[in-house]
Amino acid sequence: MLNITGKNKILAVIGNPIEHSLSPQLHNGVISQLNANGIDCNYTYIPLKMSIDHVEFGVKGLKALGIRGCNVTVPFKEAVIPYLDEIDDYAKKIGAVNTISLRDNKLVGFNTDALGFINSVKSKFSNFSFKNKAIAILGAGGSSKAICMALTEEPIKSINILNRSINRASQLQSHLQKLSNIEIQAHTLTTDNHSILNAADIIINTTSVGMHPNNSRSPLTSHQCISQKHLVIDIIYNPFESKLLYESKTKGALTMNGLGMLAGQAALYF
Ligand code: ATR
Repeated sequence: MLNITGKNKILAVIGNPIEHSLSPQLHNGVISQLNANGIDCNYTYIPLKMSIDHVEFGVKGLKALGIRGCNVTVPFKEAVIPYLDEIDDYAKKIGAVNTISLRDNKLVGFNTDALGFINSVKSKFSNFSFKNKAIAILGAGGSSKAICMALTEEPIKSINILNRSINRASQLQSHLQKLSNIEIQAHTLTTDNHSILNAADIIINTTSVGMHPNNSRSPLTSHQCISQKHLVIDIIYNPFESKLLYESKTKGALTMNGLGMLAGQAALYF
Protein backbone atom coordinates (compact mmCIF):
# COMPACT_ATOMS: atom_id res chain seq x y z
CA MET A 1 0.00 0.00 0.00
CA LEU A 2 1.19 3.53 -0.78
CA ASN A 3 2.20 5.27 2.41
CA ILE A 4 0.78 8.72 1.60
CA THR A 5 -0.84 10.69 4.40
CA GLY A 6 -2.17 14.23 4.77
CA LYS A 7 1.26 15.23 6.10
CA ASN A 8 3.06 14.41 2.86
CA LYS A 9 4.75 17.26 1.03
CA ILE A 10 4.57 17.13 -2.74
CA LEU A 11 7.38 17.37 -5.28
CA ALA A 12 6.58 17.21 -8.99
CA VAL A 13 7.78 17.31 -12.56
CA ILE A 14 5.90 19.35 -15.16
CA GLY A 15 6.18 18.56 -18.86
CA ASN A 16 4.21 17.66 -21.97
CA PRO A 17 4.48 14.79 -22.75
CA ILE A 18 5.37 13.41 -19.32
CA GLU A 19 4.64 9.69 -19.69
CA HIS A 20 8.26 8.96 -20.67
CA SER A 21 9.73 10.59 -17.56
CA LEU A 22 11.76 8.49 -15.15
CA SER A 23 11.98 11.33 -12.62
CA PRO A 24 9.12 10.03 -10.40
CA GLN A 25 10.79 6.60 -10.01
CA LEU A 26 14.18 8.21 -9.49
CA HIS A 27 13.09 10.67 -6.81
CA ASN A 28 10.62 8.38 -5.04
CA GLY A 29 13.40 5.77 -4.97
CA VAL A 30 15.75 8.22 -3.24
CA ILE A 31 12.98 9.25 -0.81
CA SER A 32 12.33 5.57 0.08
CA GLN A 33 16.03 4.94 0.60
CA LEU A 34 16.35 7.94 2.90
CA ASN A 35 13.35 6.81 4.94
CA ALA A 36 14.69 3.23 5.07
CA ASN A 37 17.94 4.65 6.47
CA GLY A 38 16.06 6.46 9.25
CA ILE A 39 16.24 9.91 7.64
CA ASP A 40 12.69 11.30 7.83
CA CYS A 41 11.80 12.42 4.29
CA ASN A 42 8.11 13.08 4.12
CA TYR A 43 7.91 13.80 0.38
CA THR A 44 6.11 12.25 -2.60
CA TYR A 45 7.13 13.05 -6.17
CA ILE A 46 4.44 13.10 -8.87
CA PRO A 47 4.32 13.64 -12.68
CA LEU A 48 2.09 16.50 -13.87
CA LYS A 49 1.22 16.80 -17.56
CA MET A 50 0.81 20.53 -17.98
CA SER A 51 -1.31 21.97 -20.75
CA ILE A 52 0.77 23.88 -23.31
CA ASP A 53 -2.01 26.51 -23.37
CA HIS A 54 -2.09 27.08 -19.60
CA VAL A 55 1.52 27.59 -18.54
CA GLU A 56 0.68 30.64 -16.42
CA PHE A 57 -2.08 28.83 -14.49
CA GLY A 58 0.08 25.75 -14.20
CA VAL A 59 3.06 27.57 -12.71
CA LYS A 60 0.97 29.76 -10.41
CA GLY A 61 -0.89 26.61 -9.39
CA LEU A 62 2.34 25.18 -7.99
CA LYS A 63 2.36 27.98 -5.43
CA ALA A 64 -1.38 27.77 -4.80
CA LEU A 65 -1.07 24.06 -4.06
CA GLY A 66 2.11 24.38 -2.00
CA ILE A 67 4.20 22.12 -4.24
CA ARG A 68 7.61 22.38 -2.59
CA GLY A 69 9.86 21.59 -5.52
CA CYS A 70 9.27 20.98 -9.19
CA ASN A 71 11.35 19.78 -12.11
CA VAL A 72 10.59 21.36 -15.47
CA THR A 73 10.99 19.37 -18.65
CA VAL A 74 10.27 19.69 -22.37
CA PRO A 75 8.86 22.07 -23.62
CA PHE A 76 8.56 24.43 -20.64
CA LYS A 77 12.13 25.25 -19.57
CA GLU A 78 11.89 28.76 -21.00
CA ALA A 79 8.11 29.17 -20.94
CA VAL A 80 7.86 29.03 -17.10
CA ILE A 81 10.25 31.96 -16.57
CA PRO A 82 7.75 34.88 -16.81
CA TYR A 83 5.61 33.37 -14.04
CA LEU A 84 8.34 32.85 -11.42
CA ASP A 85 8.92 35.28 -8.55
CA GLU A 86 12.71 35.00 -8.67
CA ILE A 87 15.36 33.36 -10.82
CA ASP A 88 18.82 32.56 -9.55
CA ASP A 89 21.72 34.24 -11.35
CA TYR A 90 23.00 31.15 -13.18
CA ALA A 91 19.53 30.20 -14.50
CA LYS A 92 19.08 33.84 -15.56
CA LYS A 93 22.38 33.74 -17.42
CA ILE A 94 21.32 30.52 -19.17
CA GLY A 95 17.77 31.73 -19.86
CA ALA A 96 16.19 28.41 -18.88
CA VAL A 97 14.89 26.82 -15.69
CA ASN A 98 14.64 23.10 -14.94
CA THR A 99 14.03 23.37 -11.20
CA ILE A 100 11.49 25.44 -9.26
CA SER A 101 11.64 25.69 -5.49
CA LEU A 102 8.94 27.17 -3.25
CA ARG A 103 10.79 29.31 -0.71
CA ASP A 104 9.02 31.72 1.68
CA ASN A 105 5.97 31.49 -0.59
CA LYS A 106 8.02 32.54 -3.61
CA LEU A 107 8.62 30.43 -6.70
CA VAL A 108 12.36 30.50 -7.35
CA GLY A 109 13.85 29.12 -10.59
CA PHE A 110 17.20 27.31 -10.85
CA ASN A 111 19.06 25.40 -13.53
CA THR A 112 20.74 22.12 -12.61
CA ASP A 113 20.85 20.81 -16.21
CA ALA A 114 24.07 22.60 -17.07
CA LEU A 115 26.20 21.15 -14.27
CA GLY A 116 24.29 17.88 -14.42
CA PHE A 117 25.32 17.47 -18.06
CA ILE A 118 29.01 18.29 -17.55
CA ASN A 119 29.26 16.10 -14.42
CA SER A 120 27.60 13.18 -16.21
CA VAL A 121 30.04 13.25 -19.16
CA LYS A 122 33.09 13.58 -16.91
CA SER A 123 31.98 10.78 -14.63
CA LYS A 124 31.08 8.42 -17.51
CA PHE A 125 34.45 8.73 -19.27
CA SER A 126 37.18 8.82 -16.62
CA ASN A 127 40.04 10.34 -18.68
CA PHE A 128 37.76 12.56 -20.73
CA SER A 129 38.63 16.19 -21.40
CA PHE A 130 36.66 18.84 -23.29
CA LYS A 131 39.98 20.50 -24.26
CA ASN A 132 39.97 21.68 -27.90
CA LYS A 133 36.82 19.74 -28.75
CA ALA A 134 34.58 20.92 -31.60
CA ILE A 135 30.97 20.56 -30.55
CA ALA A 136 27.89 20.25 -32.78
CA ILE A 137 24.69 20.64 -30.78
CA LEU A 138 21.27 19.80 -32.25
CA GLY A 139 18.49 22.02 -30.86
CA ALA A 140 18.35 25.52 -29.39
CA GLY A 141 15.68 25.17 -26.70
CA GLY A 142 16.01 25.27 -22.92
CA SER A 143 18.16 22.13 -22.64
CA SER A 144 20.49 23.30 -25.38
CA LYS A 145 20.89 26.69 -23.69
CA ALA A 146 21.94 25.05 -20.41
CA ILE A 147 24.39 22.66 -22.08
CA CYS A 148 25.89 25.37 -24.30
CA MET A 149 26.37 27.64 -21.30
CA ALA A 150 28.10 24.88 -19.37
CA LEU A 151 30.29 24.09 -22.40
CA THR A 152 31.45 27.69 -22.73
CA GLU A 153 32.95 27.31 -19.27
CA GLU A 154 35.06 24.35 -20.51
CA PRO A 155 38.23 24.70 -22.65
CA ILE A 156 36.45 23.66 -25.87
CA LYS A 157 37.35 24.84 -29.39
CA SER A 158 33.99 25.69 -30.93
CA ILE A 159 30.21 25.20 -30.84
CA ASN A 160 28.01 24.82 -33.92
CA ILE A 161 24.31 25.12 -33.03
CA LEU A 162 21.99 23.37 -35.50
CA ASN A 163 18.28 23.99 -35.08
CA ARG A 164 15.08 23.52 -37.06
CA SER A 165 14.29 27.23 -36.74
CA ILE A 166 17.34 29.36 -37.47
CA ASN A 167 15.98 32.29 -35.40
CA ARG A 168 16.26 30.42 -32.15
CA ALA A 169 19.75 29.14 -33.04
CA SER A 170 20.90 32.67 -33.94
CA GLN A 171 19.47 34.12 -30.73
CA LEU A 172 21.31 31.52 -28.68
CA GLN A 173 24.51 32.11 -30.65
CA SER A 174 24.45 35.87 -30.07
CA HIS A 175 23.57 35.42 -26.38
CA LEU A 176 26.50 33.01 -25.84
CA GLN A 177 28.90 35.05 -27.92
CA LYS A 178 28.40 38.01 -25.56
CA LEU A 179 29.62 35.82 -22.69
CA SER A 180 32.37 33.81 -24.36
CA ASN A 181 35.31 34.12 -26.78
CA ILE A 182 34.79 30.60 -28.10
CA GLU A 183 33.88 30.40 -31.81
CA ILE A 184 30.10 29.85 -31.95
CA GLN A 185 27.98 29.55 -35.11
CA ALA A 186 24.28 29.00 -35.81
CA HIS A 187 22.85 26.91 -38.65
CA THR A 188 19.55 25.51 -39.79
CA LEU A 189 19.24 21.78 -39.06
CA THR A 190 18.91 20.37 -42.60
CA THR A 191 19.98 17.39 -44.67
CA ASP A 192 22.96 19.54 -45.61
CA ASN A 193 24.90 19.62 -42.32
CA HIS A 194 27.29 16.82 -43.30
CA SER A 195 30.55 18.79 -43.15
CA ILE A 196 29.75 20.47 -39.81
CA LEU A 197 28.81 17.17 -38.22
CA ASN A 198 31.77 15.40 -39.77
CA ALA A 199 34.19 18.02 -38.42
CA ALA A 200 32.78 17.83 -34.89
CA ASP A 201 34.37 15.75 -32.13
CA ILE A 202 31.19 15.66 -30.05
CA ILE A 203 27.59 15.67 -31.35
CA ILE A 204 24.90 16.38 -28.75
CA ASN A 205 21.17 15.97 -29.40
CA THR A 206 18.98 18.20 -27.23
CA THR A 207 15.88 18.03 -29.44
CA SER A 208 12.96 15.83 -28.48
CA VAL A 209 13.15 14.00 -31.82
CA GLY A 210 13.36 10.25 -31.14
CA MET A 211 11.86 10.44 -27.66
CA HIS A 212 9.23 7.84 -26.69
CA PRO A 213 6.80 7.13 -28.37
CA ASN A 214 8.55 8.33 -31.56
CA ASN A 215 11.39 5.86 -31.14
CA SER A 216 11.95 5.34 -34.88
CA ARG A 217 12.81 9.00 -35.50
CA SER A 218 16.20 10.69 -35.48
CA PRO A 219 17.05 14.41 -35.62
CA LEU A 220 19.45 13.53 -38.48
CA THR A 221 18.11 12.40 -41.85
CA SER A 222 21.41 10.67 -42.63
CA HIS A 223 23.99 9.21 -40.23
CA GLN A 224 26.70 8.84 -42.88
CA CYS A 225 28.72 11.71 -41.39
CA ILE A 226 29.18 9.84 -38.10
CA SER A 227 32.31 7.73 -37.59
CA GLN A 228 34.56 6.16 -34.96
CA LYS A 229 36.08 9.52 -34.06
CA HIS A 230 32.79 10.87 -32.68
CA LEU A 231 31.30 10.94 -29.23
CA VAL A 232 27.53 11.17 -29.73
CA ILE A 233 25.42 12.18 -26.74
CA ASP A 234 21.62 12.13 -26.74
CA ILE A 235 19.90 13.71 -23.74
CA ILE A 236 16.97 11.36 -24.44
CA TYR A 237 16.91 8.41 -22.03
CA ASN A 238 13.59 6.86 -23.05
CA PRO A 239 14.21 4.89 -25.21
CA PHE A 240 17.47 3.91 -23.53
CA GLU A 241 19.14 3.83 -26.96
CA SER A 242 17.58 6.35 -29.33
CA LYS A 243 17.68 5.82 -33.08
CA LEU A 244 20.46 8.45 -33.26
CA LEU A 245 22.56 6.52 -30.74
CA TYR A 246 21.84 3.17 -32.39
CA GLU A 247 22.91 4.49 -35.81
CA SER A 248 25.98 6.20 -34.30
CA LYS A 249 27.06 3.04 -32.49
CA THR A 250 26.69 1.11 -35.75
CA LYS A 251 29.12 3.59 -37.34
CA GLY A 252 31.64 2.94 -34.54
CA ALA A 253 31.05 6.13 -32.52
CA LEU A 254 31.19 6.25 -28.74
CA THR A 255 27.68 6.95 -27.44
CA MET A 256 26.02 8.13 -24.26
CA ASN A 257 22.33 8.49 -23.45
CA GLY A 258 20.61 11.02 -21.18
CA LEU A 259 20.38 8.91 -18.03
CA GLY A 260 23.59 10.36 -16.62
CA MET A 261 22.36 13.91 -17.14
CA LEU A 262 18.99 13.00 -15.63
CA ALA A 263 20.73 11.64 -12.54
CA GLY A 264 23.19 14.56 -12.40
CA GLN A 265 20.53 17.26 -12.55
CA ALA A 266 18.30 15.27 -10.18
CA ALA A 267 21.03 15.01 -7.55
CA LEU A 268 21.53 18.78 -7.65
CA TYR A 269 17.73 19.33 -7.58
CA PHE A 270 17.31 17.07 -4.59
P1 ATR B 1 13.49 22.08 -23.86
O1 ATR B 1 13.18 23.28 -23.06
O2 ATR B 1 13.27 20.81 -23.11
O3 ATR B 1 14.83 22.12 -24.54
P2 ATR B 1 12.14 23.18 -26.11
O4 ATR B 1 12.56 24.52 -25.62
O5 ATR B 1 10.75 22.98 -26.59
O6 ATR B 1 12.37 22.07 -25.00
O7 ATR B 1 13.17 22.77 -27.25
C1 ATR B 1 12.98 21.65 -28.03
C2 ATR B 1 14.03 21.62 -29.15
O8 ATR B 1 13.71 20.52 -30.00
C3 ATR B 1 14.02 22.85 -30.03
O9 ATR B 1 15.35 23.07 -30.50
C4 ATR B 1 13.11 22.43 -31.19
O10 ATR B 1 13.35 23.11 -32.40
P3 ATR B 1 12.61 24.52 -32.73
O11 ATR B 1 13.35 25.57 -31.95
O12 ATR B 1 12.75 24.69 -34.20
O13 ATR B 1 11.17 24.36 -32.28
C5 ATR B 1 13.53 20.99 -31.32
N1 ATR B 1 12.49 20.19 -31.98
C6 ATR B 1 11.31 19.80 -31.45
N2 ATR B 1 10.64 19.06 -32.36
C7 ATR B 1 11.42 18.98 -33.47
C8 ATR B 1 11.28 18.35 -34.74
N3 ATR B 1 10.20 17.64 -35.04
N4 ATR B 1 12.31 18.47 -35.62
C9 ATR B 1 13.42 19.18 -35.31
N5 ATR B 1 13.61 19.80 -34.12
C10 ATR B 1 12.62 19.71 -33.22
